Amino acid sequence: MTTPRPVRIVPSTLSADFSRLGAECAALEAAGADRLQWDVMDGVFVPNLTFGPDVIAACRSHTSLPFEAHLMVQTPEALAGRYVEAGCGLLIVHAEACVHLHRTLGQIRALGAAAGVALNPSTPAAAVAEVLDLTDMVLVMTVNPGFGGQKYIATMEPKIAEVRRMIDQSGRDIDLEVDGGIGPATVAGAAAAGADVFVAGSAVFGRPEGPAAAVAELRRLAAAARGVELCP
Ligand code: DX5
Repeated sequence: MTTPRPVRIVPSTLSADFSRLGAECAALEAAGADRLQWDVMDGVFVPNLTFGPDVIAACRSHTSLPFEAHLMVQTPEALAGRYVEAGCGLLIVHAEACVHLHRTLGQIRALGAAAGVALNPSTPAAAVAEVLDLTDMVLVMTVNPGFGGQKYIATMEPKIAEVRRMIDQSGRDIDLEVDGGIGPATVAGAAAAGADVFVAGSAVFGRPEGPAAAVAELRRLAAAARGVELCP
């Protein structure tokens, strides 16, 4: 049994106030977030349109937190360089958007960024079996991508467990992230299945007590479900 990895909480800016993104990034850092996720959507791969690289670049100086770009786009290999230049240290591409996933992951690493692979709900864990040597994170989507505030798809938990088993068997340093409908009622199920990185948008921004309380509660619930000690 491998030592459980630390829990990471990664707010999605998709639920932020778009008129104040720089200040929202600073507030999420103050709230104790580990990284920030930018949900990049091109209106083709998913039916929504969001952040171009210049928007992310404008926010880079407002926080010291690492940025990850979740590229929900039809042509990730064509756009990857722009998002690295904008300040994203981790690029997540969808297996479903990459005819040459092995080559695209190598291209992202050659740009100096870490490489993640996202799996839509209908895509099996086997889609990453041949590229774990080029992967720094596997993202198991727990909603169909395109919008925040959707319902968590609990039937993804066996897939999370399968990806966990594949990562552990590989012996490689690979994070397992989940994204979509993650909140106080669902985070423990995803954590117990094997996730160690948790993306949350509406559960962080929609919390009356503020983002710090939301981040702290998600971290506490996930750590308890994974049997991970929290630093005092
Ligand atoms: C879907 C997006 C959302 C977002 C999180 O394409 O990727 O999952 O990050 O949204 P919530 O936490 O509101 O489900």
